[in-house]
Amino acid sequence: MKPVSRTFVIGSQPSALATNVAHLLGCEVTSIRAKIFDDGETRLRLPVSVACKEIIIFQTITDQPDAVIFETLRLVDAAKNSGAKAITVVFPCYPYARQDRIVQDGCGLPPKLVAKLLKTAGADRQVTVELHAPKQIDDFPLSTFNLSTEALFADYLRQRTEKTDEILLFAPDRSALPRVQSIAKALGCDFDWVDKQRLVDGSLKLSDFHGNVRGKSVYIVDDRIDTGGTLIAVATHLKQAGAKRIVGIVTHGVTSIALLEHLKTTGLDRLVETDTRNVTRDKNFVEVLSVAELLAKKLKSLDKID
Ligand code: R5P
Repeated sequence: MKPVSRTFVIGSQPSALATNVAHLLGCEVTSIRAKIFDDGETRLRLPVSVACKEIIIFQTITDQPDAVIFETLRLVDAAKNSGAKAITVVFPCYPYARQDRIVQDGCGLPPKLVAKLLKTAGADRQVTVELHAPKQIDDFPLSTFNLSTEALFADYLRQRTEKTDEILLFAPDRSALPRVQSIAKALGCDFDWVDKQRLVDGSLKLSDFHGNVRGKSVYIVDDRIDTGGTLIAVATHLKQAGAKRIVGIVTHGVTSIALLEHLKTTGLDRLVETDTRNVTRDKNFVEVLSVAELLAKKLKSLDKID
């Protein structure tokens, strides 16, 4: 079968990750054209022909997720109308991923809604990284590939200088536990966890700390940082409990300078995160691991899908 030629489009959010993934795929990055009318409406246009081609629409989530989602839907619609052969949406950080279950009456399930809307607009599949609850994709009406950063984190930890018996991986809540267990198994190191409850006023209650962290390098592994409340509460506790070094290792990292500055004052020695969002760089405190190869490998393998 002749390989389908591929067009790589990024939305209006710049992204170094998008450029790196496109490079690994051997594609040029195509930016969309937008015209803004006086009333605030826009006209989006794909500047190249996508007829009979595979199109990858790469979108970076910002603090205006609804705007990014709607732009994505419009790009999918434009690609469909232009005769694209296959439409793949890439959200390295999936919008609304945390709201994967109904916690209060009257709420919806926005991650599933995003998948539903993309499907309706004409998308064939979507690729994302480290969903808060991986099982939620079983319920998505759109073919979804959720890539795990566990191997990336295990490789990073393997290259650290500490011996595995000096490292302790720490799950800041129950939902992080399977991820932590799997990385700890790959490394042959210990793990521990705490139970976290988010109260109605948004504050956190931690309970059931066990294990001994005294003198250890503790890596708090989580899928994301939002307010930073989880990392701060756990790091503070670990510091008091005598941990020698505390590192946060998180897939979807910090995009706000103010939050990063705050995190530096809470007992955390270092933050390791990936580039799924446009994270705030600070080489003295933050180490950024790239998911570019992970995404490129998956996107390449999708070639085979007709
Ligand atoms: C929640 O279950 C997630 O895994 C993260 O722990 C959470 O989203 C972090 O949020 P925050 O930084 O606001 O505590």
